[in-house]
Order: sequence, then structure tokens, then C-alpha cells
Amino acid sequence: METIDYKLEAAKKAMTYVREGYTIGLGAGSTIAHLVKELAAVPALLKSISVATASFNTRLLLQEHGFTVRDVASLARLDIHFDGCDQFDRSLNALKSGGGVHTPEKLLAAMAQRFILIGDGAKYVEKLLPTVPVVIELIPDALSFVQQALLRLYPDARPQLRLSNKKDGAVITERGNLLIDIWFTAFPPVAEINPQLKAVPGILETSLFYHMAHEAIIAGKNGVTIVFP
Ligand code: 5RP
Repeated sequence: METIDYKLEAAKKAMTYVREGYTIGLGAGSTIAHLVKELAAVPALLKSISVATASFNTRLLLQEHGFTVRDVASLARLDIHFDGCDQFDRSLNALKSGGGVHTPEKLLAAMAQRFILIGDGAKYVEKLLPTVPVVIELIPDALSFVQQALLRLYPDARPQLRLSNKKDGAVITERGNLLIDIWFTAFPPVAEINPQLKAVPGILETSLFYHMAHEAIIAGKNGVTIVFP
């Protein structure tokens, strides 16, 4: 039996949101990789849109497909930003950072007139669940201080410094920082997580995108659905 790639279906639907001349932001991951290829297949878009991305891998893919990639630092506004996520709920709160680039991804999401989450239905939950960690990016000098602060803030959680798959030390982000995956047994009230964590000096950003997305494109066995918060 032929299996349907729901991420590809979601990326195809995302194409209907794109107009010639747009300035577009793109996050990271395999769903976004599908979208890059779909965009590149339309010569009028390849010629006319400007793209910026949070991710080195997405940048390489865009360049391979002939896009000129804009420097994020030169932009303050995007017409639209697309990104995948690891989990999202009916209010479109999303947990991200499988790829460890949530800090620039959040910046692009905040710049966008429309921020659209795209992904497969398996990531959709009624209310966020602690089966996915909240990830923080922190400056390396803050490691011990932040670890202590996390123990005080969330005595029941398990914060884990993200280690490289090659077992040769910590993951270093594209901007030279560290990542800690905070595994909760139960989430504190979701509205409180970002203010609590961002009040700790040394923490740059969290992977919880709280009330940021304007829409989500979800593809699953019942077809493609658009969800609003
Ligand atoms: C990167 C992310 C990705 O969007 C997330 O991990 C989803 O990836 P994929 O599209 O491969 O399922 O959050 O920081």
C-alpha cells in the first residue's frame, strides 16, 4: 500500500499561501525541506521571493536550489514565516527545537505578519504534554548557574544538557551556545514557563512558542486541515 507523506502534503498546502515578491521566513526540519523543494519548483517564485532562515541546513538547501538567502540581521519584517514543530496544541502553542535552532526561529516568527505552523497530525494534542521537553538555549558561562536555578524552579523536572549523538560532548548551537532539555513530569501553567525561564540570566530563549502562531496547516489521514488559535 502506498504511504502518504503527510509532511509533504502540509508543505504543498503551504504553497497556496505564498505570493510572488514575498519576503518569507523558513525554520528547520524535514517539513520545511519539503517546502523549499516545492518553492524551488515554481520559477516565478524562485525569481521573485526573498527568503531568510533560522537554520544552517535550511540555508544550504535553499542555496542548492538556487535561492539567494537574505541575512536575518537585515530584516525586521517578513510577509510570512513557516515552521514545523515537535508538538502543538489547540491554542497553537508549540514546542520546538528538535534541531536546536529555536532562538532564531522565534525571532523570525515574531517578525512575521503571518506565522504558520506546518506539520503532520501526529504532533497535534489538545493541550501540550510533557512527552516533549522544553528546551532552553543558554550561554556556556551560565551552565552551572542555570542548572542550579532550574533545580530551584522545578524540583520535580529533569534538566538534561543536550549531548552530541557522537558522544563527544555537549551540542553546541550554531551561535556557540548550549541546550538544556527540561523534561517535566507535569507542566507548570504554560503561560508561566517563558517568564520564569527568561528571568534567569544566561538563558537566551525557550522552545515554547506561546501564542505566536496565527494558523496551522495539519496533514493527516483525514486530509489537510487549517487550524486557528
Ligand atoms: C527545529 C524544529 C523542527 O521544526 C521540528 O523538529 C520538526 O521537524 P520535522 O519537520 O522534521 O518533523 O523544531 O527546531
